[in-house]
Amino acid sequence: MKLKVGLVRGDGIGPEIIESTLKVLDKVLKDTDKSIDYQELIAGGVSLDKYGVPLTDDTIVQAKQCDAILLGAVGGPKWDNLEGHLRPERALLGLRKELNLFANIRPVKLFEALRHRCLLKEAGNIDIVIVRELTGGIYFGKRGREMTENGQVAFDTETYSEMEIERIGRVAFDYAMLRRKKLTSIDKANVLESSRLWRETMHKLAKEYGEVEYSDMLVDNAAMQLIRNPMQFDVIVASNMFGDILSDEASQLTGSIGLLPSSSLGQGKMGLYEPIHGSAPDIAGKNMANPVATILSAAMMLEYSFGMQEEADEIVKAVEKALSTGMLTKDLGGDLSSDQMTKAILDNIA
Ligand code: IPM
Ligand code: MG
Repeated sequence: MKLKVGLVRGDGIGPEIIESTLKVLDKVLKDTDKSIDYQELIAGGVSLDKYGVPLTDDTIVQAKQCDAILLGAVGGPKWDNLEGHLRPERALLGLRKELNLFANIRPVKLFEALRHRCLLKEAGNIDIVIVRELTGGIYFGKRGREMTENGQVAFDTETYSEMEIERIGRVAFDYAMLRRKKLTSIDKANVLESSRLWRETMHKLAKEYGEVEYSDMLVDNAAMQLIRNPMQFDVIVASNMFGDILSDEASQLTGSIGLLPSSSLGQGKMGLYEPIHGSAPDIAGKNMANPVATILSAAMMLEYSFGMQEEADEIVKAVEKALSTGMLTKDLGGDLSSDQMTKAILDNIA
């Protein structure tokens, strides 16, 4: 069977970590009846340089024809001074929106071998899934500027409909049912109206999912609880913005943001898979980037979009083995190059 995967190599370290990941995919798929046809998708800074816009209609059309998309990272200082609608990050937001990938799944798991890299003095078993709403909220609300007697005024609007809250809520409750059956919903209901609707809607859902131990948590408290006692969390559901912030914070519990994968999913099996980190322009082209987050994102792709649990597990195990035998990149306190790290992972795949 031929699978079609769109490749957004992107900017900065994007092309390097994608290259590492392709080697791993090649190796795990070798003796299976599946193979991948890659379709190059031009998006982000490279697209700006080539076409003057971060995401072309052509790329969107091509992306919609793929079974899954693997994305490295987009953005960099070269394009930092462009107007909002031209920034490379717009490509990412555009793909998420156009493909209706409203659920962003970000697992945060501490590898046993990296316990010493965890920020906490006494870490237990940290195993959290952050379910972040991805196509609504302040990222997509009305924004603009106006001239007033106080000079310019700028505004961005946090907007959520019941439909949007309910559908991300369902994803989160379903995830909790497959795990330790505990869900924490993040909001700022003591201040924001959108958060009050968020909370009301989650409460209605909680009645349907009687088996799930549900609680609300204000986002400022959640930021504190994540570093005070992260073991209390199983599944966390949050708006686009709160999920963005809390997932970067949570990454530090695992030792490095270079480890964390993500999937962005919609109603079907098509998904976009990407590391949660950015394009790290400071280390781009230096063979230094940690490819693990992208490699684990590919494992999520095999599992979710292609139903290849065994092959996905094989990748995760190979990463675990490499880490536990002390194979570490610089961000993890080691001295391996990206290529060496990739090889260490490949060597652990049968
Ligand atoms: C992420 C990133 C993006 C986001 C940026 C690059 C637009 O931070 O995927 O977490 O905010 O969603
Ligand atoms: Mg982010």
